[in-house]
Amino acid sequence: MKGIILAGGTGSRLYPLTKVTNKHLLPVYDQPMIYYPIKTLVAAGITDILIVTGGNNSGDFLRLLGSGKEFGDIHLNYTYQEGEGGIAAALRLAQHFAGEGKICVILGDNIIDGGIREAADAFRAQESGARLLLKEVTDAERFGVAELKDGKIVGIEEKPEAPKSNYAVTGIYFYDTTVFDKISTLVPSRRNELEITDVNNAYVQEGKLTYSFLDGWWTDAGTFESLARATRLAASNAGLDLSEA
Ligand code: DAU
Repeated sequence: MKGIILAGGTGSRLYPLTKVTNKHLLPVYDQPMIYYPIKTLVAAGITDILIVTGGNNSGDFLRLLGSGKEFGDIHLNYTYQEGEGGIAAALRLAQHFAGEGKICVILGDNIIDGGIREAADAFRAQESGARLLLKEVTDAERFGVAELKDGKIVGIEEKPEAPKSNYAVTGIYFYDTTVFDKISTLVPSRRNELEITDVNNAYVQEGKLTYSFLDGWWTDAGTFESLARATRLAASNAGLDLSEA
């Protein structure tokens, strides 16, 4: 299974931190943000990885990461997203790289504590369809939110005002190759983006969407508050309590 890290977009919610650099190159404790999703994939045995970047500083990814040899015996590939057309628009650029195989997609600003190996193995064994990773949260309205019935996902709403559950859809997705057909049928949302939630709902319609729960902490890092939280959590994993620093 190949891995795809989506690190495009303008990072407008972190302006002016993102005025002269890409959000995913900002520090999260002692590492650039992009290191975390790379390590998440590599720890799950996913070593052929495409990074989708964008904006004015995409060359800096190559300068920072190079061939990726500091992460072990992995292959890093790069492509470029023009503009900010949404997560599904960024993923569409990975079609050629993915070929006919299954893929694991991770948003470049999603940082986790534990691993995804069990979910990856479950998806390797899954005949077709997609698999999401869910996490119980107290601020579900910030995320895609899964509605569960009889242990199945029956629908997902993007940033609902009144969430139907506390289960956020994290930015880690497993897809079969039909994901690209689904993306080709999408129309832009109210925020003028091709939404990954619409892709996931297409799998719900087919009855082919499974899920796992993510162990340990999870955070995005796309706002000042969540970037600070990511730094605090990453430091705590290294044994440092930043509230006392
Ligand atoms: O973090 C999980 C959430 O991520 C999910 O629960 C939501 O369903 C999903 O829509 C997404 O929500 P956000 O609004 O937080 O996504 P954001 O626009 O911040 O983009 C997240 C990452 O996706 C970003 O770090 C880079 C990548 N991205 C995003 C856009 C809009 C791209 O590569 N290209 C893009 O055009």
